[in-house]
Amino acid sequence: MVGATAYAAVRAVAAGPGDTLVVAGAAGGVGSIAVQLAVNAGATVIGLASEPNHQWLADHGVTPVSYGEGVADRIRAASAGHVDAFIDTVGTGYVELALELGVQPDRIDTIADFAAAAKYGVKVEGNGAAANAGVLAELAAMIDKGQLEIPIAKVYPLTEVQAAYQDLAQGHTRGKIVLRP
Ligand SMILES: NC(=O)c1ccc[n+]([C@@H]2O[C@H](COP(=O)([O-])OP(=O)(O)OC[C@H]3O[C@@H](n4cnc5c(N)ncnc54)[C@H](OP(=O)(O)O)[C@@H]3O)[C@@H](O)[C@H]2O)c1
Repeated sequence: MVGATAYAAVRAVAAGPGDTLVVAGAAGGVGSIAVQLAVNAGATVIGLASEPNHQWLADHGVTPVSYGEGVADRIRAASAGHVDAFIDTVGTGYVELALELGVQPDRIDTIADFAAAAKYGVKVEGNGAAANAGVLAELAAMIDKGQLEIPIAKVYPLTEVQAAYQDLAQGHTRGKIVLRP
């Protein structure tokens, strides 16, 4: 699901060569795949993430930027003042931030803030727009060729499913948590 969602979001904002794309939630389940797809497509990618995820992003060709107070200025500094596209996987004011940075509504995609999307006319393409066998085969081929990594934050036995969900609910998982039956 996160693969198809990331695929749909990157396609929705048409990230490609010459573009600077900002991804909010850049090291999360959806974001960690979206940033890699956008880098592979030739875009310059700025990833918003907390400090423990900065090295992983840098290792994958992404410029890491911390979120929180002053984030708009840090993005302007990292992008030389020009952002073409924005993917929001978090949903707490990032659509407004993208507009404030001068991104056109048709190059903003949110998978988490449907109220802002309705208000500002930005895109909401997510899982439903790309969940098909062709896209999954494309993503699997990228993984097979070493062009796409799905980070595994932790592996839990199925008997510890509650702990796995409590971990996920903290909202700071890098990539995915695996449950092993
Ligand atoms: N519409 C769809 O089709 C669709 C599909 C899949 C998911 N979703 C939704 O998309 C959202 C993300 O899903 P996910 O699986 O990627 O979640 P996740 O793996 O839990 O990732 C959450 C991310 O949010 C970041 N984060 C937490 N607080 C933040 C803040 N204040 N500012 C910026 N970033 C912050 C975390 O970054 P750090 O760890 O670096 O702090 C983390 O990377 C969820 O709301 C989910 O329901 C929608």
